[in-house]
Amino acid sequence: MKYRRFGRTGWMVSEIGYGMWGMGSWSGSSDEESLGSLQHAVELGCNFFDTAWAYGGGRSERLLGQLVRANPDKRLYTATKIPPKNMKWPSRRQFSLDDCFPPDHIEEYVRRSLENSGLESFDLIQFHVWEDAWVEDERWARKMDELRRQGFINAVGISINRWEPWNGVRAVRSGLIDAVQVIYNVFDQNPEDELFPACVEKDVAIVARVPFDEGTLTGTLTRESTWPEGDWRNTYFVASNLFPSVERADALKPVVERAGIRMPEAALRFILSHPAVSTIIPGMRKLSHVESNIAASDAGPLSQELLAELRTHRWERAPTEWSQ
Ligand SMILES: NC(=O)c1ccc[n+]([C@@H]2O[C@H](COP(=O)([O-])OP(=O)(O)OC[C@H]3O[C@@H](n4cnc5c(N)ncnc54)[C@H](OP(=O)(O)O)[C@@H]3O)[C@@H](O)[C@H]2O)c1
Repeated sequence: MKYRRFGRTGWMVSEIGYGMWGMGSWSGSSDEESLGSLQHAVELGCNFFDTAWAYGGGRSERLLGQLVRANPDKRLYTATKIPPKNMKWPSRRQFSLDDCFPPDHIEEYVRRSLENSGLESFDLIQFHVWEDAWVEDERWARKMDELRRQGFINAVGISINRWEPWNGVRAVRSGLIDAVQVIYNVFDQNPEDELFPACVEKDVAIVARVPFDEGTLTGTLTRESTWPEGDWRNTYFVASNLFPSVERADALKPVVERAGIRMPEAALRFILSHPAVSTIIPGMRKLSHVESNIAASDAGPLSQELLAELRTHRWERAPTEWSQ
């Protein structure tokens, strides 16, 4: 495993971090399997873990606390997220700070996350939705400073809404945040345009999330894919998303296979090829996924030739009623 600097915090984080949404709330999750996979990831050098209160109302945070306690001799970086007060994902332009993150709500959920995890502090607290207009309202930053002084948090981040990388650039430029979490993958390359240069300029860490486009970029979905009732992917992979996603993944497959690389590995190595990225957080519950994803770090960036080809698979998407 290779490590990268996490922006101005100076932390050295593993190139492959760990996304903990699935194990909190997707169908088919077993805590026993998840804990085994998490522990194996630690043994393979993974040290950055991303969870949220919303991932099972604390279930995923509880697993993270267990993992940290089981590894007292390891420095594991813990990141969680405060849900918006109105519990609506994503946020909309008309939502105010009072709708989503009034100061008392911020404090309440930081305390809840600490309680769920049993940790004394989190390394990174992120806002689980974000509107750049909130930069003007200093109350959130003041509350975060207070929580930092109290020793509950180390660093502050925002998690940018799906397919809106522009909606975090002002926050980066404000100097008020240490990290951004954003969707960045072979399809969604647009954070490179404006967000990444701003992060580099301000030394803000970049957490690349949803590296597999929720599964499409693993090459395993088909036009017939469905999930058990209650699994959120049934509401995301509606036909108008699933069909073009599968079509585009199928177009990509021969390109990466010609280079002798499997789809999931290509997806991760594409992201690692960008030097501004601090860490990637693939969602993974299966041990075999942990092993193959972590191996992508040692394999390193892709060749310039393959990268140039993958760049042509960029897909411009705008938020819509099913995109969440
Ligand atoms: N608004 C937000 O802030 C927000 C939104 C979405 C995600 N996130 C964060 O980003 C993380 C990553 O996103 P995600 O989990 O939604 O999607 P993702 O990482 O794009 O995809 C996860 C899916 O890929 C599968 N997978 C992982 N490695 C694989 C491999 N090597 N081969 C085949 N399949 C593989 C996983 O299976 P298994 O689970 O069965 O191993 C899971 O079904 C989340 O866990 C969460 O921490 C944040």
